[in-house]
Amino acid sequence: MTSESDRISEPLNLAVIVASVRPGRLGPVVADWFLDRVAARGGFSATTLDLLDFDLPADLTPSPAGEAFASAIGAADAIVAVTPEYNHGYPASLKTALDSVKYEWRGKPIGFVSYGGLSGGLRATEQLRQVVAELHMVSVRDSVGFHRARKAFDDLGETTDPAATDASMRMLGQLHWWAALSARNSAIEHYPG
Ligand SMILES: Cc1cc2nc3c(=O)[nH]c(=O)nc-3n(C[C@H](O)[C@H](O)[C@H](O)COP(=O)(O)O)c2cc1C
Repeated sequence: MTSESDRISEPLNLAVIVASVRPGRLGPVVADWFLDRVAARGGFSATTLDLLDFDLPADLTPSPAGEAFASAIGAADAIVAVTPEYNHGYPASLKTALDSVKYEWRGKPIGFVSYGGLSGGLRATEQLRQVVAELHMVSVRDSVGFHRARKAFDDLGETTDPAATDASMRMLGQLHWWAALSARNSAIEHYPG
């Protein structure tokens, strides 16, 4: 039998949500860059949840896609949303995803990798902090933001932005701390939501 101390010494499960679903999107380039940072850091086993693959109903009707998405969130110890900024907010696809799941979000940490024009998607990130608090999640302090995102990555999906790498490492450290705490506490008692 696996003890709780064994469980939290394993790599923790990190779900990386790709929020953009539009044709020609930049989202997968940003997500792949971030997944490389996760692998370089260690301590997490990452799963990509591309919202394009889920086809979640915007009217929130229960669906197999919704069940599959909730199950994937339930298996995660921590979440990162890779999100663009659209009209000073975050995409509707991400709001639908957030609204499609209830209990599986609770007590878990979330971080944000945003991208956009001049603001680097920071307005999307700050709006998301309000929403995830209602879902009983903890948003970590550090986030990653790419301004002028189309120009930030070369043809191989690499970026020379050292601030982004530094920020991603700080964010992952904070996520790991909260995720280990959440995994330990969840094994002892249900989140009081
Ligand atoms: C409908 C729409 C609205 C946008 N609004 C903003 C914005 O308010 N601020 C910003 O920085 N970038 C804005 N952008 C630029 C996007 O952030 C940028 O094109 C980004 O690559 C979009 O992500 P995606 O390609 O993964 O969909 C907007 C793009 C679209 C398509």
